[in-house]
Amino acid sequence: MGKSNVMKGATLPGNSTVEFRQFAIPEPGHGEVLVRTKSSTICGSDIRCIYHEHLGKGAEGYIPGMIAGHEPCGQIEKAGPGCRRFKKGDRVVLYHISGCGVCNDCRRGYMISCTSEKYRRAYGWQRNGGMAPYILAEEKDLVLLPDVLSYTDGAQVACGFGTVYEGLEKVGISGNDIVLVTGLGPVGLATAMLCKAMGATMIIGTDVIEERMKIARKLKLCDIVLKAGPDNVKEIKALTGGMGVERAIDCSANAKAREVAIQATRKWGKIVFIGEGGTVSFKPSEDMIHDQKTLYGSWVTSIWKMEELVERIVRWGIRPEKLVTHRFPLEKAGDAYSLMASGKCGKVAVVFDEEIK
Ligand SMILES: NC(=O)c1ccc[n+]([C@@H]2O[C@H](COP(=O)([O-])OP(=O)(O)OC[C@H]3O[C@@H](n4cnc5c(N)ncnc54)[C@H](O)[C@@H]3O)[C@@H](O)[C@H]2O)c1
Ligand SMILES: [Zn+2]
Ligand SMILES: [Zn+2]
Repeated sequence: MGKSNVMKGATLPGNSTVEFRQFAIPEPGHGEVLVRTKSSTICGSDIRCIYHEHLGKGAEGYIPGMIAGHEPCGQIEKAGPGCRRFKKGDRVVLYHISGCGVCNDCRRGYMISCTSEKYRRAYGWQRNGGMAPYILAEEKDLVLLPDVLSYTDGAQVACGFGTVYEGLEKVGISGNDIVLVTGLGPVGLATAMLCKAMGATMIIGTDVIEERMKIARKLKLCDIVLKAGPDNVKEIKALTGGMGVERAIDCSANAKAREVAIQATRKWGKIVFIGEGGTVSFKPSEDMIHDQKTLYGSWVTSIWKMEELVERIVRWGIRPEKLVTHRFPLEKAGDAYSLMASGKCGKVAVVFDEEIK
């Protein structure tokens, strides 16, 4: 960036385009750090709530003109006064919501559901995010990125992998389980990757987009990939000795796929909904109650679980960056969002410096 004190940031006007605006490179205040962005990945929620139209409300409300991007990872360029742990040169992932720090949710580490209207601000939504060369962050929102992970590994932990890990921890995944993943977008692919690392014995994935089914097969993330359709429950029962799966994770937000996730789960099984928005209908008695099933909802994660996740990712020897099929420099952020919106890709990343490959 040279000595200039301005930078360009990508904003999302809500008409399926990206608009670059000029911003001052911020000066970190007390308890804040200036992070030099290295990788900033795009989440399905950016497309659903912001890119095509500003549909989100409340926590998902985007303030027009904000720098987009809620999956940022980078290196601390400057630590402001009063920082207690992090310093210049540290490689960090941002927990993507800055909370008030003192409400009950924040005290649990779930700043995602911080109840303070005044202080809860998510990066890339209500405060500037990762689609710019620098990000002003609060020290308390940082997670240290282990040396063996790349910034593009880390970026995906900021929302996608963190979210998935939370959902999987709620239902518990082990070598006892056959897992169904409905929706093989980046979140579904991350689910398959983590389920495999956690020991699941068979992973069945479904999607409607050919490109995504191909990625799941090519990366060997799923043992079986099915085209989404009316016979899915029957097909999954046939693959599991008539029993159904022990665990089902919906990452599609599609009503039909959610129904499949519930119906293809066996007695005493557990289902978790991660895909957001939309609707679902099912028969409580037949589909859930009489089969003693449990359905969970899961929203992002806590910052301590994110810390645990980066440690486990290293232990398991997996690399989230393998899900990235396309990397773009910041100037091409428009192409990055439009590709992600098409669904004909794995994870899409906007990258800087050494992450440009
Ligand atoms: N719960 C949370 O905290 C949280 C966090 C991040 C993202 N999300 C949500 O997770 C979802 C997935 O995110 P993503 O980044 O992978 O987005 P995405 O939109 O790229 O992925 C959704 C996938 O579901 C597939 N799909 C559509 N209909 C289907 C059907 N009938 N059967 C099977 N698959 C079907 C789509 O083709 C697509 O590949 C989005 O709804 C996103 O908003 C939730
Ligand atoms: Zn997200
Ligand atoms: Zn709070």
